[in-house]
Amino acid sequence: MEDTVALITGAARGIGREVARQLAADGATVYLSARDAAAAADAASALDGDVRALELALDVGDDARVQAAAEAFDREPGRLDVLINNAAAYVDWTETATGADLAEAERVLRTNLFGAWRTTRAFLPLLRRSAHPRVVVVSSGAGSHGDRQFGLTVRGGAAASYGISKAALNALVSTLAAELADTPILVNAVCPGLTATWPGAEATGARPIDEGAASVAWAARLPDNGPRGGFFRDGHPLPW
Ligand SMILES: NC(=O)c1ccc[n+]([C@@H]2O[C@H](COP(=O)([O-])OP(=O)(O)OC[C@H]3O[C@@H](n4cnc5c(N)ncnc54)[C@H](OP(=O)(O)O)[C@@H]3O)[C@@H](O)[C@H]2O)c1
Repeated sequence: MEDTVALITGAARGIGREVARQLAADGATVYLSARDAAAAADAASALDGDVRALELALDVGDDARVQAAAEAFDREPGRLDVLINNAAAYVDWTETATGADLAEAERVLRTNLFGAWRTTRAFLPLLRRSAHPRVVVVSSGAGSHGDRQFGLTVRGGAAASYGISKAALNALVSTLAAELADTPILVNAVCPGLTATWPGAEATGARPIDEGAASVAWAARLPDNGPRGGFFRDGHPLPW
């Protein structure tokens, strides 16, 4: 991935941070962003390779901050090849559609759906100037109607706003990919699979972070004739 500039949202920890490490190990220049700029700087300085922190705090739920980050990025480094919309908010597993605090549900949708939508729009002018542009949207099987393990229809309504936000995010990917079909920009959704990013996760069967992150990084490395408008885990199509 030499001569590739990538930007990852919500990347001071978890899967985003590991995706930064993996892409940098491939030779990419990776900008790691977070809503806490100091946390982004700490994370970047702990990683090998050309991993840099975006100096401005990037809260994907905040129009002004996203716009300011895009303008700063346009000045330095002045180009973007891969945007990875990784940031996500949650309530908890017990939240149901009938019981949800709708203010909390709106927060989740503001981050997971509108955050990716807003960030992609803001950085699109930069991506349009890239020879090999990619937009990676980190979704989840939790937003799928067909995922038999984690999907919308198999968990008794649990994690309602998270699942709904990821289903809407998948619809955004289809819609963006259709609009951008005549451009070189490949837009795809990926699921990292159940990945151990919280304490005790392994006990629930979650896999190591490097494996979940590899499922995301795959879509950043797609060739020019790669898929567009798809939904994948580990490079294999997932049902919507
Ligand atoms: N782990 C899994 O099993 C799993 C499974 C399927 C899909 N996913 C998806 O994979 C992605 C990464 O998940 P993860 O497990 O690494 O989660 P995580 O450890 O909770 O990381 C989420 C990141 O998003 C950031 N974030 C939250 N709200 C934000 C905002 N408004 N603006 C910018 N950043 C914000 C958080 O930053 P702060 O540090 O500031 O809170 C954090 O760095 C998410 O899209 C998630 O939905 C994860």
